[in-house]
Amino acid sequence: MKVLLLGSGGREHALAWKIAQSAKVEKLFIAPGNAGTQNVGENVDIKADDFEALKNFVVENGVDMVIVGPEDPLVKGVYDDFKNDERTKNVPVIGPSKAGAVLEGSKDFAKQFMKRHCIPTAKYETFDGTTVEEGLKFLETLKAPYVLKADGLCAGKGVLILPTLEEAKKEFKEMLGGMFGNASARVVIEEFLSGIECSVFALTDGKNYKILPEAKDYKRIGEHDTGLNTGGMGSVSPVPFATKEWMQKVEDRIIRPTVEGLAEENIEYKGFIFFGLINVEGEPMVIEYNCRMGDPETETVMLRLKSDIVDLFEGVAEGNLDKRDIEFDERAAVCVMLVSGGYPQTYAKGYEITGLDKVEDSVVFHAGTKMQNGKVVTNGGRVIAVSSYGKDKSEALQNSFTQAQKIEFTDKYFRRDIGQDL
Ligand code: AMP
Ligand code: GLY
Repeated sequence: MKVLLLGSGGREHALAWKIAQSAKVEKLFIAPGNAGTQNVGENVDIKADDFEALKNFVVENGVDMVIVGPEDPLVKGVYDDFKNDERTKNVPVIGPSKAGAVLEGSKDFAKQFMKRHCIPTAKYETFDGTTVEEGLKFLETLKAPYVLKADGLCAGKGVLILPTLEEAKKEFKEMLGGMFGNASARVVIEEFLSGIECSVFALTDGKNYKILPEAKDYKRIGEHDTGLNTGGMGSVSPVPFATKEWMQKVEDRIIRPTVEGLAEENIEYKGFIFFGLINVEGEPMVIEYNCRMGDPETETVMLRLKSDIVDLFEGVAEGNLDKRDIEFDERAAVCVMLVSGGYPQTYAKGYEITGLDKVEDSVVFHAGTKMQNGKVVTNGGRVIAVSSYGKDKSEALQNSFTQAQKIEFTDKYFRRDIGQDL
């Protein structure tokens, strides 16, 4: 098969690494990819949301399957665009339809969906510019801290958690006033849930599903979860509290009702569902849905997936995922993200990265890198994910930290406390 993967981050390098191992794959293209993906496939200089150029490429190169990494093309409707074009309608796109991607694209839709299907989540209400007073009154009925969510996509920045009612009221008005542009024209106010978070992933063909290994990600820039939120500073899989019993609750109360709910509502969904969960006194609740894999969770989940991922994707495309096997590696896997100094605020790009060739025992996934004059240089906030196996989490972390020291670039930073809270 010829496979085209869309995206350019660490998640996509990890997916590309796994896809390239499949005996079914003759050629892997990545659009646009990064300096790492070119080691496992061929980068194609097309943006992941330039659908016309992507379709032309697929037709001209006889691509048999398209796999979508990031949410942006999904929310913009890449699945439907391929399906509605005579030339590409028979090329399976792994990822939900535009209607399915709304699970991530609109927090209000996701909350309503969960309410309709009795899926456990925080109590909430949604407000817009015409219901400001009602929103302020609703805030008064809640206890601190206060959770405000912009309805639309905000690159992970649209959630504010405020310690006092006064601040919550002020920020609520500012969000509706355009703090996140059109994305915060509607704001979800919800009850604060206290617990440890865990990311659970399922792959579905719209009827059947397979659950992938769970992972925990570390979102804050500072050690011990301090400072600003980032795209993710590391991840660990498995997660100790995600026991067999807990995962059974997740499947029965969350995963199955979600897949069945989508089918009942005639929402086409053939791809990954990311359940952002929180463990509230032993009970899993949904914080958010995403319509794709997590980053940096993929950088550990792919290490723990033993099965041929392209075989699973074929099951998704053909609607017979129930006939495919999924097997996990029993070892632990972790990922430590090396980031640019200054991230998640301002940081410089273009620094040379050295020492990549000295890494042993770990799998290096590129996140924000590119080739410049024959050298690998930094090209983003999150630069390199150092992923490792171990017989347990501690051994895996030791491996990643040791290898992380060998990779050098100006103002490199990483968290040394990944996994310590588990
Ligand atoms: P989201 O974009 O919905 O995942 O929210 C971003 C982060 O805000 C989550 O990963 C949680 O850490 C936090 N968060 C969101 N909703 C809640 C909630 N209801 N209670 C506590 N924390 C929350
Ligand atoms: N790691 C969280 C995300 O991918 O949204």
